[in-house]
Amino acid sequence: MVSCCRNMASRTSGRRLVACLLNVSEARRKDLVENVAKAALCDADGVRREETTVLNIFNDHDYNRSVITIVASMASIRDAVLSACQKACALIDMCAHSGVHPCMGAVDLVPLYPLGEDVGVEDCVQQALAVAHGLTETVPGTSAFLFGWADSPLQRGLAQRRKEMGWFRKTPDLQDLRPDVGPAPQKRYGLTGVGASPYVMNCNVTIDSQDLSVGRSVAAALRESSPGGLPGVQVLALPHGGAVEIACNVESVAGAPPAHLTGEPWPSFVIDGQPYCHAPASLITARVAELAGGRGVGLKGTALVGFTPRECRALAELALSGGVGEFWKEQRRVHM
Ligand SMILES: *[C@@H]1O[C@H](CO)[C@@H](O)[C@H](O)[C@H]1NC(C)=O
Ligand SMILES: *[C@@H]1O[C@H](CO)[C@@H](O)[C@H](O)[C@H]1NC(C)=O
Repeated sequence: MVSCCRNMASRTSGRRLVACLLNVSEARRKDLVENVAKAALCDADGVRREETTVLNIFNDHDYNRSVITIVASMASIRDAVLSACQKACALIDMCAHSGVHPCMGAVDLVPLYPLGEDVGVEDCVQQALAVAHGLTETVPGTSAFLFGWADSPLQRGLAQRRKEMGWFRKTPDLQDLRPDVGPAPQKRYGLTGVGASPYVMNCNVTIDSQDLSVGRSVAAALRESSPGGLPGVQVLALPHGGAVEIACNVESVAGAPPAHLTGEPWPSFVIDGQPYCHAPASLITARVAELAGGRGVGLKGTALVGFTPRECRALAELALSGGVGEFWKEQRRVHM
């Protein structure tokens, strides 16, 4: 994915939009993943769902994991995401899964993010809970844990909930888990994380080394919880394509950008009247280069950056104004 749409006007259309970066545990069978994406666009009778689009499908072959970016109006997001989840559960069997990325569910992650000033995170929480309950009621044997603002009242973050659920373990013990919604997880569907929060962007930087311990120490120095770490940045080091990927989740943080960090300004935006900002990909890439360089390791290729909240919003407006549902097919044209 490339960032691109600076010259694309982000008209405010009055649409109240929500984004879902649906993570499913399959990438190697691309048609299967496309069928999951298409399920978001139509109802059970095959009628095109209003104000719904799929902006992007990111298939990661090594991880055997895909991210499907669905954007819909508040009125359509629940049904769009639920249909995609149901399709994924019908097609993906976790008993047969293999891939180097940790994962627990056929549908591994369902995060909902507000796009724009007139949607609050609480609105997304309502939709996230409706998806979690809808899924466990319509696909018997599925179960979910909640994270972010949907995890009331504690609002525990995704990394913490994943740790509690044993997501990082090679073979998580499903029997002992207490999901928040639905029955004890079964091997076939595994466990799905469902949540809502301000937008979380991806930024992945691959370092030119096969040594996972170097990657782990770079990741540790970069993450928010370390002294000198970047606010809002959660990091994993994973073996990827014969090298090590520093995979970052870049959360939006409340308030103004941190004053002590120099360089490119942090992109900022407003949700429900509150200012938020996020670390720019350029800063993350520079930090990884510096930390890896200090260990005698260079970068491999360029950073892979997902949509920023602003890009996601602008592309969604473009797709919806043109009535384009399968926008992922147009992606190349827009981005070149
Ligand atoms: C990828 O994962 C899916 C299920 O999640 C599994 O059915 C499939 O066999 C895996 N592909 C490979 C090549 O391991
Ligand atoms: C970054 O890596 C993670 C795997 O940890 C993946 O889920 C995500 O899709 C990747 N993002 C991009 C933009 O490549």
